[in-house]
Amino acid sequence: MTAEPLEIYLEERDLERGLRDDVRAGLSAGQKWLPPKWFYDARGSELFEEITRLPEYYPTRAERAVLAERAPDIAALTGAKTLIELGSGSSEKTRLLLDALTGQGGLGTFVPLDVSVSALRGSTAQIAADYPGLRVRGIVGDFTRQLDRLPTGGRRLVVFLGGTIGNLLPAERAGFLTAMRAALEAGDWLLLGTDLVKDPSVIVPAYDDAAGVTAEFNRNVLRVINRELGADFDPEAFAHVALWDPDHEWIEMRLRATRPMRVRVLGMTVDFAAGEDLRTEVSAKFRPEGIAAELATAGFDTTDFWTDPGGLFGVTLARAR
Ligand code: SAH
Ligand code: TRP
Repeated sequence: MTAEPLEIYLEERDLERGLRDDVRAGLSAGQKWLPPKWFYDARGSELFEEITRLPEYYPTRAERAVLAERAPDIAALTGAKTLIELGSGSSEKTRLLLDALTGQGGLGTFVPLDVSVSALRGSTAQIAADYPGLRVRGIVGDFTRQLDRLPTGGRRLVVFLGGTIGNLLPAERAGFLTAMRAALEAGDWLLLGTDLVKDPSVIVPAYDDAAGVTAEFNRNVLRVINRELGADFDPEAFAHVALWDPDHEWIEMRLRATRPMRVRVLGMTVDFAAGEDLRTEVSAKFRPEGIAAELATAGFDTTDFWTDPGGLFGVTLARAR
C-alpha cells in the first residue's frame, strides 16, 4: 500500500510563527535558551540518524535490544489495533513492534507524528511499502500541543521512544503526561522509552562524540534560525558543550560563544559575551521508581518495566486508568 498523504496539524506558517516566538523569548532572556524541536529540519533529522549509529550513543542500541526481546509480549499484552508513535523520526526501531503487532493479526493502522516533514515522508513511504495491508497515516504535528487531535477509537497503543520525553523540562513533562492521559481512554496503552541514570562517564560521551556529529547537530539550530528568520549567526563560532547536572540528573546541551558576538535577528540585536552559553537542550535520565510515580500522577498504571541486559535504558508499559 502507499502511505496516505501526510495530515498537517502544523502548517509552515504555524512553524514559522512558533520559531519566531521562541527565538524572541529565548534570545532576550538573561540565560539565553532555545527549545529543542527546532533542531529537526531535514539536515537535523539526518544528523540525528547519524547520532544513533555512533559508538558512543548507546540509547538507540539499548532500546532496540529491549524491543527486540519484548515486542511479542507487548503485542500480546496490548492487542493494539492502532499504533500511534510520537516523535517518530525514522520509526526504525518501531518496526520491531509493527512486526509483532501485524504478525498477530490485529493491527490496522500506524500513525507516526513528528514535527519533521522530511523524516515523516521517508518513514511513511518505506513502512507503507514494507507492510502491505497496514494503513499508514503520518501526522505533521507537535506532541507538546496537539495530543487532543490524535485519532480516537480502536484499542490504542501510543509509543514514545528514544528517551525524547527527557528533552522536556519537568513541568513540561508533567503537562505532557496529563495531556497524553486526557487524549486516551481507560484501558489504552502507553509504551515509554527512557534513558536511565548511570555513571556520567557513560552518559557524557553519548552527547559529545569524538567525531563531532552531536556538535554539528547542536549548531544546526543556528543554521535553521539563519535560514528561516534571516539571522546572521556564525555557527562555527559556537562551541558544543555537554554538561552533566547531578542535581537534576540531566545532560545539558549548550552552545558557547567562543568570542564576543553581536547577532541580528527579527529586528533584535543580541549580544553574546565571550564564553556565554545558549542552552539548547536537556536530556533527562530517569530512575524506575520516578517513572512509575510520574505516570501514576498522570493517571497511568505501570504494568511492566524492562531494560536491556546492560541496564542502560528502560522501557515502561503503562495503561490508562
Ligand atoms: N523516535 C526516534 C527519534 C527520536 S529524536 C528514535 O527513537 O530514534 C526526536 C524526534 O522527535 C525527532 O524526529 C524530532 O523531529 C521529533 N520532535 C522533537 N520535538 C517534537 C515536538 N515538539 N513534536 C513532535 N515531534 C518532535
Ligand atoms: N532524544 C535524544 C536524546 O535525548 C535526542 C538527542 C540525542 C539530542 N543527542 C542529542 C538532542 C544531542 C540534542 C543534542 O538522547
